[in-house]
Amino acid sequence: MQELIISPSILSLDYARVSEQLDTLARSKAAWLHFDVMDGHFVPNLTFGPDILKGFSQAVPQKMDVHIMVEDPQTYADVFMDAGADVLTFHAEALHNDPEAIRSLCAHIRQRGVLAGVSVRPGTPVNFLVPLLQDMDLVLVMSVEPGFGGQSFQPQVLLLRQRIDALGLTVRIEIDGGINAQTGALAVEAGCDTLVAGSYVFKNDIIKAVDSLICL
Ligand code: DX5
Ligand code: ZN
Repeated sequence: MQELIISPSILSLDYARVSEQLDTLARSKAAWLHFDVMDGHFVPNLTFGPDILKGFSQAVPQKMDVHIMVEDPQTYADVFMDAGADVLTFHAEALHNDPEAIRSLCAHIRQRGVLAGVSVRPGTPVNFLVPLLQDMDLVLVMSVEPGFGGQSFQPQVLLLRQRIDALGLTVRIEIDGGINAQTGALAVEAGCDTLVAGSYVFKNDIIKAVDSLICL
């Protein structure tokens, strides 16, 4: 398994104290910063545009891990790569789980020197991703339902982990939603190597929360 990466989600940042929190984050052991883009259509919420990404990428040394929850990933992938994304993850469902469309967008992202990620909602079966694994750098498994903890994603993650290892690929498995020290431990046990954590990091002591995840 690859080195464990922690990617705090700025969705839970305290926007009254942005500079202070980014300064602390810069000193933490988090290697990535998770940037949730929502368009109000693919998900019923609106978040950030590319200018915020540009600013944040100059403020911290972390790699910009951009998760676009949008209906039109083909357009917005470029917008956020232009703004400084180091990892660009789009949703398979936004492309109707169409293998050729997923392959083609991943290839475009990789051509630009950016890591290509594909995300699936908790209810989307992951089997269809297996033949596509070699075309991507990361799979982002959503586990956002509170109460499910680590258990809800384990079977899917295990399947992917086994297939990734059997194929000799270096695809990362990132998990996103409800991650704390307890659910993070379950996720790592199930084969995840990249943990997104929003409220757990930003509603607590940032340095200590990241430390508690990185040692899992
Ligand atoms: C949800 C986002 C997550 C979110 C995670 O759609 O993709 O990245 O910020 O937040 P927590 O860790 O608080 O569940
Ligand atoms: Zn996310």
